[in-house]
Amino acid sequence: MAAAGSAVGLGNIWGFPTQVADNGGASFILIYLICCLIVGLPVMIAEFAIGRNTRRNPVGAFKKLSSGWFPPLIGLWGVMCGVMILCFYLVIAGWTLGFIFEEIFYYMGMSTASNWVADLGNGFKNSIFTVLFMLATMGIITGGVSNGIERATKTLMPVLILVLIIMIGYVFTFDGSVEGLRMYLLPDFSMINTNLVFSALGQAFFSLSLGMGALLTYGSYLKKNQNIVESAVYVTIADVCIAILAGLLIIPAMFVAQYSGITIMDDDGRLFASTTLVFDVLPNLFKSMGGFFGLLFGASFFILLSMAALTSTISLLEVPVSYFIDEHRLSRRRSTLIVGGVVMAAAIVVSYNINFIDILATIFNNVGLPLGGLMLCVFLAWYWKSENAIEEIKHGFENLEDGYFPAVWKIFIKYICPFLIALVLITTLYNLIA
Ligand code: PHE
Repeated sequence: MAAAGSAVGLGNIWGFPTQVADNGGASFILIYLICCLIVGLPVMIAEFAIGRNTRRNPVGAFKKLSSGWFPPLIGLWGVMCGVMILCFYLVIAGWTLGFIFEEIFYYMGMSTASNWVADLGNGFKNSIFTVLFMLATMGIITGGVSNGIERATKTLMPVLILVLIIMIGYVFTFDGSVEGLRMYLLPDFSMINTNLVFSALGQAFFSLSLGMGALLTYGSYLKKNQNIVESAVYVTIADVCIAILAGLLIIPAMFVAQYSGITIMDDDGRLFASTTLVFDVLPNLFKSMGGFFGLLFGASFFILLSMAALTSTISLLEVPVSYFIDEHRLSRRRSTLIVGGVVMAAAIVVSYNINFIDILATIFNNVGLPLGGLMLCVFLAWYWKSENAIEEIKHGFENLEDGYFPAVWKIFIKYICPFLIALVLITTLYNLIA
């Protein structure tokens, strides 16, 4: 449940629809699903297995299983990615927090206040909400409350799904929505290019919380009798479903907006897909509901989204914090204060310069996480050895060896996943230089 809480977050509701819009709709979804299935899922199983076997933070885990300079480097890479992702994630999480107030102020007729909170370019306002969000994350991390996270995820996730479904139903009562649905579901294969695959792979890693040791850390809290493969399948399904629902809401809603005269495409017929897309589209939709219903759905949506983001920031911060606790012998409190303080300062800089969000997301989601995943596969297959990982997975998975799973997973981790990740990264780099 906690791993699902880590996975489901802004990656699903902010990242996915924006990427779908940016990359031409259904063709992106198709490649995204393939990435989740053939790269994301095997890597998630690997992270859980390493975590549960070593019961350590990412750096300690790799060190425990093998010697040399390479293994700890993978963990350190993850720690750095976690810190850098937090720097921009917190700003967007701050926006979702702010929009709870925007909905309330709007309902109460306080238009100046509601416009102030809705202004995504207002650095001072952004920094306040960013700091508030970070303080909430740090508070929970210091307490080390894993129970709370599980309980919150268990109750809030179904409500989030319900609200999404109701909103989708509402959007489809408007003209234009079906046109959006068509773009969302019918792939245009001519849109598939290296850049799309690069974005889809990065989005899969980001949304599934992979490549930086977040799920490895959560794996270290897993019980021996829990089935790792089953857990990974559930987390992947939940994450993918919520992303698909979010897209099903946002993309048709964009076409509905077009019907009322708003430009949603550039001259080449590409959808506008800026960082702020979701925050431009959704509040207008809630406003169109009007009155109390607008408030009810608007405020609950942003409360749920803030909670989903919180269970993700917790897992992002837990990685560097647990690293400093285990490897540098700091107390949990001290480690949280130091890491949290540094991240907060950097996030404030981003909150004043929101164009950094895109840059950081491209570097760390699309390159940093897949590279972390690639190193993890290499480590598992060539250093720790997949036989040892299979031994670990056997706990909680009866009759594992009777089926095809061990052989298939081994081929994926050893050859297919690293090869595909390397191919995507190298081709993208080549295109960039050439
Ligand atoms: N998966 C989270 C989301 O979709 C973000 C995240 C990435 C969390 C990496 C932890 C590690 O919002």
